[in-house]
Amino acid sequence: MQTIFSGIQPSGSVTLGNYIGAMKQFVELQNEYNCFYCIVDQHAITVPQEAKKLRENIKSLAALYLAIGLDPEKATLFIQSEVPAHAQAGWMLQCVSYIGELERMTQFKDKSQGKEAVVAGLLTYPPLMAGDILLYNADLVPVGEDQKQHIELTRDLADRFNKKYREIFTIPDARIPKEGARIMSLQDPTKKMSKSDPNPKAFISLLDEPKQIEKKIKSAVTDSEGIVKFDKENKPGISNLLTIYSNFSHKTIKEIEELYEGKGYGEFKADLAKVVLNEIRPIQERYYDFINSSKLDEILDEGAERANKIASKTVKKMENAMGLGRKRK
Ligand code: TYM
Repeated sequence: MQTIFSGIQPSGSVTLGNYIGAMKQFVELQNEYNCFYCIVDQHAITVPQEAKKLRENIKSLAALYLAIGLDPEKATLFIQSEVPAHAQAGWMLQCVSYIGELERMTQFKDKSQGKEAVVAGLLTYPPLMAGDILLYNADLVPVGEDQKQHIELTRDLADRFNKKYREIFTIPDARIPKEGARIMSLQDPTKKMSKSDPNPKAFISLLDEPKQIEKKIKSAVTDSEGIVKFDKENKPGISNLLTIYSNFSHKTIKEIEELYEGKGYGEFKADLAKVVLNEIRPIQERYYDFINSSKLDEILDEGAERANKIASKTVKKMENAMGLGRKRK
């Protein structure tokens, strides 16, 4: 059975972008693969976080993992900082990474741009992410398009390590959805929808109140043409909304265009809000059951234990290959 690894940062409310680009795939894949889904809190601290809020976000993300339909019997769900092998592997992989290649990462450029003090962790984020994936010898990594460059670097680092030291790592492939790999901001559809956007109208959180969701969709930026048609270049706003509609309704974009022929954006947006709420409402109901249940801690403890067993073995192999520590009989 092939192995899957993916992670989400607990750095704010989980958005429709995270859900469509990554989390929906997580659920589909759990039946066919050996899956590891991580809450990557060590990645989150590469930008400022408030300790109390971070803890809340970690728990909240864990409850959301369950609420979307992940089954702890099928998939291993755990918190990155509870498995020390991640930081250990991250360090060893930093020692095979070149500063130049890390500086070329677009996420590093975006997040460091205009900042006076940039922490080193923001630059060394990709080897930590590579460690996450390589520790479990993952074959596939389901992610949105913005992570493609990081997966390519992971492949390079794995190959470099294998050649320089010993063949330890599987070279993983990214698994990027054909549609919805890049959901855009509702306020600026040329920008990615992001959970850290300072304008809350720009994104829909999976935990937004239904009224908020309706309002955000109503005020989403479109164009003055009034024709529901997919045209990413000239009509990025409506195209983004069509992608979301299609994803949640299982109708093709063509079918939706036909459905709204001769109708305006008002009707389309009102229906889109219904379609989104249909999918999100049951997730929210399950979320509130899980967030208040003691089962959540049990599931995370078990997940960390399972992950630890596998990851610590890989770390040992890496250390042996690199000559760290002592040889034991
Ligand atoms: P993060 O937390 O920013 O996002 C989590 C997942 O959601 C996807 N995503 C999107 N997909 C479509 N449209 C969007 N607007 C959108 N925004 C986010 C991301 O591509 C991602 O799949 N570096 C990772 C976390 C990570 C990781 C890993 C992922 C750490 N270690 C190992 C995979 C494997 C990140 O920042 O994701």
